[in-house]
Amino acid sequence: MKISASFLSSKDIPNDLKKLNETDVDYIHVDIMDGKFVSNKTMPFKEMRHIYEYTSKRLDVHLMVENPSAYIPLYAELNTEYISIHVEVLEDIVKDLELIKSYSIKCGLAINPDTPVKELVPFLPYIDSILVMSVVPGRGGQSFIPETSQKIREVKSLIESYHLNIVINVDGGVNQDTKELCQGADILTAGSYIVGSEDFQEKISSLR
Ligand code: DX5
Ligand code: ZN
Repeated sequence: MKISASFLSSKDIPNDLKKLNETDVDYIHVDIMDGKFVSNKTMPFKEMRHIYEYTSKRLDVHLMVENPSAYIPLYAELNTEYISIHVEVLEDIVKDLELIKSYSIKCGLAINPDTPVKELVPFLPYIDSILVMSVVPGRGGQSFIPETSQKIREVKSLIESYHLNIVINVDGGVNQDTKELCQGADILTAGSYIVGSEDFQEKISSLR
């Protein structure tokens, strides 16, 4: 199992990123919120770009924004492995996915807890990953929605039925207990469980 660490709930981002850099975590999950797609807002890119200096890990960028096309070129500049946009956005999704691809970055589609899995179908040929939201996006530290377990199974069988090579990443409320509900996932994204602890490596190892 690969692990992606979100620093959304961090009280000291530079320090926590330095600490994460000393662990074997696979990715740093970068949550971007615009105050429109979700009500909270994260710091502007001109500040966010400095995370560069504190980590050598590849980034897993999660755009919780109404207009991903304005953000993709910015985050493509960083050491980014994945950029995920939401299937619920009203922009031309295929165009956005192609924009991500044009930077040779893997593209993902995130899906909210209330959105049916079938909404992903038209985009399956274009994507490298599906980010299954196990909380309503907007903030860290929420409880894992148990129905996500069934949703992961549904997503997995959809991918298999099309014989595609798409990675499943689960995001929100992931910890040592809820990881059991994530069977079928390839990547687990965890925030507060890791950065809210004393021993980052121990928590990361407990999720693998
Ligand atoms: C939720 C974010 C998640 C969140 C994960 O809006 O997309 O990535 O930060 O944090 P925890 O693990 O605390 O739910
Ligand atoms: Zn996220």
